[in-house]
Amino acid sequence: MPKQTDFASLLPPEMDQEALLQGIAQIQELRALQQLYNGAIREMRTKLENLDDEFRTRYDHNPIHHIESRLKKIASILDKLQRKGLPLSLESARESLYDIAGIRVICNYIDDIYTMADMLCQQDDIQLIRRTDYIENPKENGYRSLHLVVRVPVFLSAGSEKVPVEIQIRTIAMDFWASLEHQLRYKSDQSVPQSLREELRECAEHSAALDLKMQNIYRQLTANKS
Ligand code: GTP
Ligand code: MG
Repeated sequence: MPKQTDFASLLPPEMDQEALLQGIAQIQELRALQQLYNGAIREMRTKLENLDDEFRTRYDHNPIHHIESRLKKIASILDKLQRKGLPLSLESARESLYDIAGIRVICNYIDDIYTMADMLCQQDDIQLIRRTDYIENPKENGYRSLHLVVRVPVFLSAGSEKVPVEIQIRTIAMDFWASLEHQLRYKSDQSVPQSLREELRECAEHSAALDLKMQNIYRQLTANKS
């Protein structure tokens, strides 16, 4: 039998053993939570990859350029709970935060964004919680993307749980703008001056015009093909 470590015996005698055991229990809960949300990310990725695969076979076109995903770090979870004035607990994170599991789907064309979103939301086991269309209604700074929050069931030994996942769907051009804008915002320690903010918004508009042009070229080429 492997030797078990008695953590309590490693502690200096003045340390509160009750608190230590509580800490260990919390770490275990946290790991279970991360596992659950990782499961949700895997489920969503598979769904998206299956759709992309089917499109390639059926229409000779890949709507998805690539997929990124991330699990929110514990420090960012606590940060966000604090900002929102919510209790700093795992229960509160599960109830109130919808972006612990995050997926970013980078599509080739604008049409692909809506096709993917519709196909996903039509699936029986997907429950749409929130849909924000920042393409129809770009943010003040020029940001464009389609945001969905959905619940997807994750099956574990004790049964299934519907886990929220935030999905951002955007084109390559929208992603290019969003990642540079994000970098610029974090790089400058003070807020970005108004004149530069205006320039950034113009860049977003140029890039949206490019997306529309590319979309039109693609539509015309595929219309001629069929
Ligand atoms: P949060 O509590 O901040 O998540 O608010 P929300 O859920 O109302 O936010 P929203 O749906 O607007 O944005 C969620 C995510 O979208 C952010 O965490 C970013 O990843 C992305 N996002 C939103 N607005 C911008 C923006 O102006 N620039 C960039 N680069 N990303 C953005
Ligand atoms: Mg959010």
